[in-house]
Amino acid sequence: MTSYAEFHHRSLHDRDAFWAEQARLVDWHKPFTQVCDHSRPPFARWFVGGTTNLCHNAVDRHVPTRGGQNALIFVSTETDQERVYSFAELHAEVQRMAAILRELGVKKGDRVLVYMPMIPEAAFAMLACVRIGALHSVVFGGFASVSLASRIDDAEPLVVVSADAGSRGGKVVPYKPLLDEAIQLSKHKPKKVLMVDRGLAPFARTAGRDEDFAPLREKHLAAQVPCEWVEATHPSYTLYTSGTTGKPKGVQRDTGGYAVALAASMKHIFLGQPGETYFSTSDIGWVVGHSYIVYGPLIAGMATIMYEGLPIRPDAAIWWSLVEKYKVTSMFSAPTAVRVLKKQDPAALKKHDVSSLRALFLAGEPLDEPTAKWIADALGRPIIDNYWQTETGWPILTICNGVEKLPSKFGSPGKPVYGYDVRLIDENTGQELTGASQKGVVAIEGPLPPGCMQTVWRDDERFVKTYWSSIPGRQIYSTFDWGIRDDDGYLFILGRTDDVINVAGHRLGTREIEESISSHPNVAEVAVVGVADPLKGQVAMAFAVLKDPGQADTPEKALKLEGAIMKVVDEQLGAVARPSRVRFVTVLPKTRSGKLLRRAIQAVCEGRDPGDLTTIEDPGALQQVKDLVGAR
Ligand code: PRX
Repeated sequence: MTSYAEFHHRSLHDRDAFWAEQARLVDWHKPFTQVCDHSRPPFARWFVGGTTNLCHNAVDRHVPTRGGQNALIFVSTETDQERVYSFAELHAEVQRMAAILRELGVKKGDRVLVYMPMIPEAAFAMLACVRIGALHSVVFGGFASVSLASRIDDAEPLVVVSADAGSRGGKVVPYKPLLDEAIQLSKHKPKKVLMVDRGLAPFARTAGRDEDFAPLREKHLAAQVPCEWVEATHPSYTLYTSGTTGKPKGVQRDTGGYAVALAASMKHIFLGQPGETYFSTSDIGWVVGHSYIVYGPLIAGMATIMYEGLPIRPDAAIWWSLVEKYKVTSMFSAPTAVRVLKKQDPAALKKHDVSSLRALFLAGEPLDEPTAKWIADALGRPIIDNYWQTETGWPILTICNGVEKLPSKFGSPGKPVYGYDVRLIDENTGQELTGASQKGVVAIEGPLPPGCMQTVWRDDERFVKTYWSSIPGRQIYSTFDWGIRDDDGYLFILGRTDDVINVAGHRLGTREIEESISSHPNVAEVAVVGVADPLKGQVAMAFAVLKDPGQADTPEKALKLEGAIMKVVDEQLGAVARPSRVRFVTVLPKTRSGKLLRRAIQAVCEGRDPGDLTTIEDPGALQQVKDLVGAR
């Protein structure tokens, strides 16, 4: 067995041979002629000349050998449904969906926006898109009309696939009115809307545009739609994520590199074997859902559980009951979910046999030591932290147990994953920090390994400018996270360097929230910061300057206005983006050149020293924030 250090070294120094070997984990229609084309950095083209198909690798190729085995296990504790699709059944469903999309006019290269709850049809839609070479763009169901409209305008989908409603905690959450409103707001108008009617919420149909899924599925019951063999570099999807500006970025992913990266990660990181069951508790609206609910497990020939519902309903044992029932071998969740469970009855974890689990993988936000210890003790199974981003599509830092069982360290996701040339860089000088315990920006030397973003959708310039030009004097990929390294080469993540916040594992841009709050007629100016929270990791906190302060001059009036502003955010962006508080101030802390001092506001909210304030325009502004949070 090779040591992990050798494995990682080889992935960087014998890069092409390393990845050519990993590429054998997937099927190719036409073999590639070049492993990596890095002739136009920072762009990297993987497996050039090869043709393949993501849906073929996730579904079709398993049908002859394991057609009768479980592929997709849908469990909804919201609607009390449980449906299991074998690989053969999934194959049939995906072809039906593909035939419908074709009938609606979708061709290779077209975009299909998926705005759906966690139901099987969402996975069928994703797989059907890549089957015919169309790009899916999944928008998280928790986002509301304005968020959705901006994504519609950027992706310009020919078709939107949606559903009448989702459900959360037993409460029906209608989707269609939000979608209709988003299409009203957007400049681009999708030609067709394909509606899955779950019978949860009646909805209006726009004649000529809206089509019902059920009758079309009946019509195409026997559909046979072959996979379209696409270039390895053909984009498979775009997925929007927040950054420093208010405008979300469309992360564009390829086909061949993504298939190889996921297949390799299932083997080396997630320890999955064909015929076993994988359970990721994420949502298809996020990158974890793309990589480790839909594509990764299926590419590996595993069954994947798609779960609609809360972790604590009907009780806190629900997830573990599924682990027992389906003999889940790898499970993937987020620290916030574990913290939620921790507040429940500890006996819930003892009710079920979870011995099938090889490990519980946690990602998306920092894993604090008490949470890690609690779940490790309660579960009695290994807990593996992993750090990555929407942009990379698969882990950057973790422990690759499939290669070598290295020890974990509390508070650290682990070491750089094979393929990633991770560096710590001084943000001001661009110098590399090689010593232990030096804080720097976590950066990755190009080329990014297979599976990572190709570019920003339709905006190469933004890709180069945002990710590869933020560190002076170097063309190196910035993760926009702070990190330090210890003597053993383990990295620790210390939070974002930009205006992105992480609320319950959901990545949100403070600028987007600020833009939404500013649209309230009484708001002159606003600052939103992320503040540490024991349950959610961070929460958004807003400080607003009013045009008419008289509307908040009593506690009652202030509370009413605060509620009205929160409602604006709920309606425009969705409840996920709602700040935990909106407080009113007469002036915001800014530098003399007018730059908002977000980090100082954040520090004060967290009871920390705000640091160097020599450039502040009006020290009284920060005092106002201090007084407000002190009175919390
Ligand atoms: O700040 C880091 C944090 O989440 C960001 C990426 O979020 P997203 O694009 O939604 O992708 C999540 C994929 C799992 C990162 O820039 N983050 C993610 N994982 C960890 C983390 N912070 C600390 N520890 C982690 N394991």
